Amino acid sequence: MSSAPHPSKVAVVLAAGKGTRMISEVPKVLHRACGRPLLAWVLDAARAAGCERLLVVVGYGADQVRAEFAGASDIVWVDQREQLGTGHALLQARAAVAGAARLLVLSGDVPLVSPETLGRLAAAAEQGWGAVGVATVDAPGALGRVVDDGHGRLRRIVEARDALPDELAIRRINTGLYALPAPDVFDRLERLTPDNAQGELYLTDAVTGAARAGERVALVEVDNVEEALGVNDRLELARVHERLTERKIARLTRDGTTFLAPGRVTLDAGVEVGPDSVVHADVTLLGSTTIGAGVVVHAGAWLRDCQVDDNTVIEPYSVLDGAVVGRDCRVGPFARLRPGTVLGDGARVGNFVEVKNARLGVGAKANHLAYLGDAEIGAGANIGAGVVTCNYDGVAKHRTEIGERAFVGSDTMLVAPVRVGADAMTGAGSVITRDVPDEALAVERAPTRVVRGWSRRRRGRSGEE
Ligand code: UD1
Ligand code: CA
Repeated sequence: MSSAPHPSKVAVVLAAGKGTRMISEVPKVLHRACGRPLLAWVLDAARAAGCERLLVVVGYGADQVRAEFAGASDIVWVDQREQLGTGHALLQARAAVAGAARLLVLSGDVPLVSPETLGRLAAAAEQGWGAVGVATVDAPGALGRVVDDGHGRLRRIVEARDALPDELAIRRINTGLYALPAPDVFDRLERLTPDNAQGELYLTDAVTGAARAGERVALVEVDNVEEALGVNDRLELARVHERLTERKIARLTRDGTTFLAPGRVTLDAGVEVGPDSVVHADVTLLGSTTIGAGVVVHAGAWLRDCQVDDNTVIEPYSVLDGAVVGRDCRVGPFARLRPGTVLGDGARVGNFVEVKNARLGVGAKANHLAYLGDAEIGAGANIGAGVVTCNYDGVAKHRTEIGERAFVGSDTMLVAPVRVGADAMTGAGSVITRDVPDEALAVERAPTRVVRGWSRRRRGRSGEE
């Protein structure tokens, strides 16, 4: 059985605008929602809709945009040196689309679009000249209005600033998502003039031109009106971010995670949480953080690029960055795990303990007030309150090794490089500058001097004066 190869779909994404109303030095499409640039969301939808060639028109901050997507080999970059409008932007892609008969045209600032809607746009365009994604919204604001002929056929798209009062009242808007025919749309774009309120070359005018010429332009309602949410200012960015967060939480909830205060959680797009885990209020989960099953993340915890295995408890207000935490561990409250931290199963890191580039073995404990940096700590070791690995001599960092089941007494200063052997012990308050053999005790401490009656005599002295 053989089938004709599916013609690879081509998407052109318009992303050259500065986004003046963002009040920002950052190109608009690089502003982030759920930790990812707006443009990344659009590109993902196009990919999921089967587009293998992604042409992205860049202009303002082009180098920054390219750099952000340096890893994506399916993108062809197209320059629009001067931002003269959406029509001018698409026209810049003319040479690069070479040969493609149909294009999906997307706006880089409309990130909630679904692959299904793009598929429906492409299919509808097959039946005529092209298709425009439309939505009916309560507050059409500054968006382009879609004027039809009363029989579902497009008459024209008019920008809010150019609209007549009765057109302004229309609540059906242009989403900025299209399926358009090449080369015809380019021929029409070549003929555009900027005679409108913004003095720009409008892509919408080319679509209107086709409709005026009697071409059939399908109007495709998006599956979900929120797909039409564009980002033109920070309020709209906040709304999009919120919607993406809600979608993510809905998905994780369906898959078995409990969110006790879903409106008060920050979640990046790449985060995963397993079933039977519970996420409390005001938790922030960023980057590639992955949380296993049956984990409890308590209020105020902040995790970035971490891996947390099953049944671990992250107590309130702990900060974990680049840490790998085993199963059945207990972290916090108020713990800080920095990059390179690896906790073995059942390990405990308590309040005001900072760990950096250090590995704690299975069941090792550091429950209070310690700094453990550049260290290897054996299974079952106990790190007392106030222990510090003195890892930095002002020039270089040095390692501390602590053997299995070792007991490091409270307030021990471990001057690295140094090793405390397995089953060894250090006396509280010791400054350890030499290796301690297995099973040995090391103490470095002046003997305690007890002066009887000291306070009474001192009182007596001050009374004489
Ligand atoms: C555009 C549509 C409007 C629609 C809305 C949907 C036009 C004239 N108007 O308006 O009908 O309701 O989208 O969100 O098309 N861009 C370039 N180069 C330019 C100008 C813009 O690449 O010279 C890019 C922008 O970066 C942006 C997209 O095109 O990603 C849309 O441009 P924007 O200025 O935001 O258009 P809207 O006013 O939102
Ligand atoms: Ca826009």
